[in-house]
Amino acid sequence: MKQVRGNARTVGAGGLAVTLVRAGAVAAAAAGSVHGHAAQQPLGVGLLPGGDGPADALNLASFSDSGGCPNNASELVRCMQDPLERASSQVFFASTHVPGVPPGTAIASPSTSAPDYFYHWVRDASITFARIAKIPATGGGGSGGQIASRGIADGPPRHPEIEALMAGFAHVSRGHQESPTVAGLGEPKFLVDGTPFNGPWGRPQNDGPALRALVLTRWAQYLLGHGGIPGAREYVSKELYDGALPTQSVVKRDLEYVAAAWRDASVDVWEEVRGTHFFTRLLQRAALDAGAELAESLGDSGAAAWYRVQAREIGASLAAHWSAKRGYLIATLDKVSGPPAKTSDLDVSVVLAALLAERFDPRIRAYAPWDGRVLATAVRLVGSMRGLYAINANTSAPAVVGRYPEDVYDGVGFSRGNPWPLATAALAHQAFIVARRWCRLRYLDLNQYSRSYLSELAATRIESGLPTLIATDPEFPKAVRGVIEYGVSVLKRVRQLAAADPHGDDAALSEQWDRDTGAKQGAINLTWSAVAYLDALDAYTETGLKCRSVLQSL
Ligand code: NOJ
Ligand code: NOJ
Repeated sequence: MKQVRGNARTVGAGGLAVTLVRAGAVAAAAAGSVHGHAAQQPLGVGLLPGGDGPADALNLASFSDSGGCPNNASELVRCMQDPLERASSQVFFASTHVPGVPPGTAIASPSTSAPDYFYHWVRDASITFARIAKIPATGGGGSGGQIASRGIADGPPRHPEIEALMAGFAHVSRGHQESPTVAGLGEPKFLVDGTPFNGPWGRPQNDGPALRALVLTRWAQYLLGHGGIPGAREYVSKELYDGALPTQSVVKRDLEYVAAAWRDASVDVWEEVRGTHFFTRLLQRAALDAGAELAESLGDSGAAAWYRVQAREIGASLAAHWSAKRGYLIATLDKVSGPPAKTSDLDVSVVLAALLAERFDPRIRAYAPWDGRVLATAVRLVGSMRGLYAINANTSAPAVVGRYPEDVYDGVGFSRGNPWPLATAALAHQAFIVARRWCRLRYLDLNQYSRSYLSELAATRIESGLPTLIATDPEFPKAVRGVIEYGVSVLKRVRQLAAADPHGDDAALSEQWDRDTGAKQGAINLTWSAVAYLDALDAYTETGLKCRSVLQSL
């Protein structure tokens, strides 16, 4: 790959050459790719009381491009009034543009000691590039579909800076796959120069190839959906999905691995437990479903059928994770090893998995963020942590949460666990997706899980005894509003803790908050924390658009 430092560099292969024009525009482009235009239409005015100012009030005005922002704010120059949004965008940009590091690499954190997170973790990086890959495949449909509101007459919009990053991610990932690792494709992390980290570590981590395949499948679909890009089809069928066995292409390699290895025990998202994990399997299912579609569209129908069969079997295996007795989804089954104290297996990774899976498959049936079992898991998780962390006491703000109640990882070593911004932001994100779903359907199922989600988290009691609440029932907008308000107050709390931090001027989120003081704890400027916050903001904007008419009826 040719690399020119400075203004412009070219990445790609097979005739596809995309140019990274101006680095400075990329963070804004990536941050604004979904809601650039949508953000100009704030959610129903008056939903929330305004606060004292942008720093402590996550009011509706501070979410939108209006008020204090130039009218000509474009997709690339998104006006950001929220300091945490700005700081998060900067972290997001910096982690994907480390000087001297090949484009397509994303560091987990700039912290190089206590802890050393200066690596490209396949999971973290994929979640980072998943944010960049929100570009809709065809300019319509997809979860980022409102970009289409600009009109299809001009053809689907192109995003050169984003294209350069995605091509870089494909290239870097291919290098990882081809390097001599200990755990093959399940290798969890790499040095930023692309060489494998071969020291002792929990491996394989099989969520990695699934997430990577999901992101790069989206990239392939984007390219195929933009018929006019010279060489795009050749690039896709050579670099991304070649339909050959053995394959030389990055997506098919991961898909073949996932299809063959999903039954094997692996190490979990938190790099601690060996067994069968809900998080890993839900994403494996999503990857094979998306991969099957790509395979089909490229004429590899034998592989498509094979991926579909495996996806169905994974789907069936997920049912065992639901424990009616405990009332939540069990994070790990068939445990081989892990911290003995982790007995509840109540874990925010269930919510994270549901959010990621839905992102890539908006038609998801089971285990979407609004699935009763996922709602129940969120309720139980919050219940287990409300009293666990002192910062949750003496505040009217909703509880912040960590990974799982028995956690003792303090971000550097093992003492006591803490709340995590990315886990907390996921609760807000879930709330917005749930409300958006209800607004889209114009009804919601009332069952014990949605009822307890509404009453326990959204402080909304529904009087109706019916099994369904339809949009014309006055309690429907009340439920929608309650859930959105819950999400907003969670984000407000995240923002408030970030602003209150004694390390003041560096406003970005770290990995954890000290459970007593709320001070930053663990890796600073954690990319995943930034992405989780920005993703939740995007979901808020989308939900505002979808729920506008519902809320206006209040
Ligand atoms: C132990 C932690 O519990 C785990 O989550 C983390 O990934 C590793 N240490 C590496 O920092
Ligand atoms: C620890 C987390 O447990 C793990 O999921 C993550 O990949 C690494 N830190 C890097 O952020």
